[in-house]
Amino acid sequence: MRTETPQPIRLTDYRPPAYLIDEVHLTFDLAPNTTRVTARLSIRRNGDHAEPLVLNGERLKPISVAVDGRELGAAEHSVDAEFLTVPNVPAAFTLTTEVEIDPEANKALDGLYMSGGRFCTQCEAEGFRKITWFADRPDVLSRFTVRIEAPKTYQRLLSNGNLMESGDLPGGKRYAAWNDPFPKPCYLFALVAGELDELSDSLVTMSGRTVDLKIYVDPGMAGRATYAMDALKRSMKWDEEAFGREYDLDLFMIVAVRDFNFGAMENKGLNIFNSSLLLADPATATDFDYERIESVVAHEYFHNWTGDRITCRDWFQLCLKEGLTVFRDQSFSADMRGEAVQRIKDVKALRARQFSEDQGPLAHPVRPSSYLKIDNFYTATIYEKGAEVIRMLKTLIGPEKFREGMDLYFDRWDGHATTVEEFIRCFADVTGEDLSDFFAWYEQAGTPKVSLVQSYDAEARTLTLEFSQEIDPTSGQPTKRPLPTPVRIGLLDGEGRTLAFERDGQAVDETVVVLDQAKAKVVLTGVDSAPVVSALRGFSAPVTLTTDSPSKDRYVQLAGDPDLFNRWESGQDLARDLILGRAAGKPDEVGEERYAHAVARALADQAADPAFKALLLALPSESDLVLARQPADPAAIHAAREALRQRLALHLEDDLKRLHIGLQQIGDFSPDAASAGRRALRNASLDLLAANPRSDVVELADGHYRAALNMTDAMGGLNALMQIGGEAYEAALADFYDRWKTEPLVIDKWFALQARAPDEGVLGRVLGLTAHPAFDQKNPNRLRALVSTFASGNPSRFHDPSGAGYRFLADQILAVDGFNPMTAARMVEPLGGWRRYSPELGALMKQQLQRIAETQGLSKNVYELVAKALGE
Ligand code: TRP
Ligand code: ZN
Repeated sequence: MRTETPQPIRLTDYRPPAYLIDEVHLTFDLAPNTTRVTARLSIRRNGDHAEPLVLNGERLKPISVAVDGRELGAAEHSVDAEFLTVPNVPAAFTLTTEVEIDPEANKALDGLYMSGGRFCTQCEAEGFRKITWFADRPDVLSRFTVRIEAPKTYQRLLSNGNLMESGDLPGGKRYAAWNDPFPKPCYLFALVAGELDELSDSLVTMSGRTVDLKIYVDPGMAGRATYAMDALKRSMKWDEEAFGREYDLDLFMIVAVRDFNFGAMENKGLNIFNSSLLLADPATATDFDYERIESVVAHEYFHNWTGDRITCRDWFQLCLKEGLTVFRDQSFSADMRGEAVQRIKDVKALRARQFSEDQGPLAHPVRPSSYLKIDNFYTATIYEKGAEVIRMLKTLIGPEKFREGMDLYFDRWDGHATTVEEFIRCFADVTGEDLSDFFAWYEQAGTPKVSLVQSYDAEARTLTLEFSQEIDPTSGQPTKRPLPTPVRIGLLDGEGRTLAFERDGQAVDETVVVLDQAKAKVVLTGVDSAPVVSALRGFSAPVTLTTDSPSKDRYVQLAGDPDLFNRWESGQDLARDLILGRAAGKPDEVGEERYAHAVARALADQAADPAFKALLLALPSESDLVLARQPADPAAIHAAREALRQRLALHLEDDLKRLHIGLQQIGDFSPDAASAGRRALRNASLDLLAANPRSDVVELADGHYRAALNMTDAMGGLNALMQIGGEAYEAALADFYDRWKTEPLVIDKWFALQARAPDEGVLGRVLGLTAHPAFDQKNPNRLRALVSTFASGNPSRFHDPSGAGYRFLADQILAVDGFNPMTAARMVEPLGGWRRYSPELGALMKQQLQRIAETQGLSKNVYELVAKALGE
């Protein structure tokens, strides 16, 4: 164990900054190992007291420090591993500092670093302090001007804002000067320098201004940025229409880099993207890639208002920008691709990532109250649950009041750093409602468990709904209070037709019940026949709902609930019960047949969208099922799920084969949602057929792979072959590698696919792949493709009873922590849920966590998560 325990940062300790920095002028003299950074800061005291000036700075080699042009002597300032301190400064002054940094040696990918021979930056959350001394906190907003000087080989020199001038310098160098007129916190600073190709376009905004749009990518790749450009233009128009928000600079740039710790970053006017979320063409990207590119381009663009123009007072307010921006990008995607299908995908992701976080030792509120490393809080809870909270708010107050509140928020807080309280206050102000109970959604961790008991009185024509709500204790929060939870409800008759009813004397088809107590009783009147209750429509709250509905009601819903989310959900519920029953040694063969029959009927529905049918065909994932019953037995769940898949495959064989033929691509590839939906259904059909791999299916999968005209279908074929295994799989793998070995993003897919294989030998294969010449621990995309896909995407093999899967993951975490703590920490999660498994598995998982915790020189990032996972 570490000798000194790092001290947490607490929300209650927030103090306004002692000094403000109005103007920042930076000069970069770029060189891979010796970059000079000169900073000239206009600083003034913020308050009455003369306090020492303390600025953050890490891994900086000090050259000089001057106040108002006078260089400070050794007695007048001090520098340690984290801070520059100047004890005596005037009330207002100019601080000029000079430091040297080594971007080439920076493998943490935080601050200024090199990727593929280019300079690039990542400053959120606390990377700017690795570039120069500064008040590295989001509530210090400054106007930046930046001058970049570099050898001419670094052809493009980019930073935030507008380009002021550029030109040649003596000694084979060039320079560029940038000015960003909008005050911003330093985490939004960005710089990129190097050889890049440009894709250029423009857009006329709602007020008639022309904005230049530029996407910079690896030389030769500009053609692969056209989809991202299209998505950007659609996002810009959408934000004008849906939120009245217009872009504010004359130039908007995006740069793609290959080495990046996360997905993308919203730096003002200069977004930086992981190339996996930007580059696409039909040959190398799947429909899933296209979908993600569209939503991440939108997400980062939307941050211009929710994040950049209005930012966070401190990092505890992270959800203020992230939850809200995810909500905005989800709404955009719903408009682009269809509401129901988008909602189902978003909820699947929420359950897979956020619900599991909430049920383990890493559970935390949407707005946490303490942390060691803020990097660890870029979680599914902050992002995805943060978005759910805003969706509930909109449901509770209605779309008009929601828009009014947003308008007020933009108006009131533009140009400032603020808090979640102030955000919610805007909605309280426009509605006149007291939203203080609602605020508990931000402060309380854990997924509420809502149960519903229904009783119908035929004579009185009433339906009584009795709800109760409960939240399990989470670490640091032993008792919980009830949360105001909107439950959207409709009724169906026995035939699946909408059954109207009365609520408060009004005839309605649907209503929203708001649970604001631990127990609630609601009586619906005018109910003409015994109803099927369709509750929590559209997943109106991030809770787990259990009802006393018999399974026959679920079949009615699966056949025709007009709420497509619940139509899908009822199929998932039926499948989950069947799989868990079988895993517990109680197979229900009659039920399984009935389920297969119902899925066949749903598939035959000509009116349904193919993308929706593809979702219907997929059984709940193993990770989803592992959460449903504890202690979890991943091997038994895998076997039971496979058994149901086989039965479905047998029952649906003819339908699936027909779909496979009927949905073949005609004409050219198009990434649009309808075409993607047809490909999704065709590949889902093949995937299911592969559960029952007779020789004709092997041939079908092999033919599918070989005939593929795009990456979606190539991966669909390879995936089916992977499940089957054997010679055809090995041959296709080799063929795929050979064909794509010069395309890093495609080779990431090749690694990831192998990590998901169900066979016993998969860990051996994964270990072998870590020695493959194309494996690179220092590249987060490659690392995650192999290691995290195995640990999170292959539960039955990761949880091998020998503990070898756990040992492998711990080895990788320790190795990566040596140079990239942010990414190492993000690999800890699969070990965190050890209490959910059998005592034998749990002990082996815990053993690896302890081994990590006892390692000398562990980063704060990994230490924090491992200590929490162990419950210390
Ligand atoms: N703010 C970024 C986003 O929404 C994500 C981000 C946070 C990030 N920290 C990062 C990206 C570090 C890269 C590296 O989407
Ligand atoms: Zn974001």
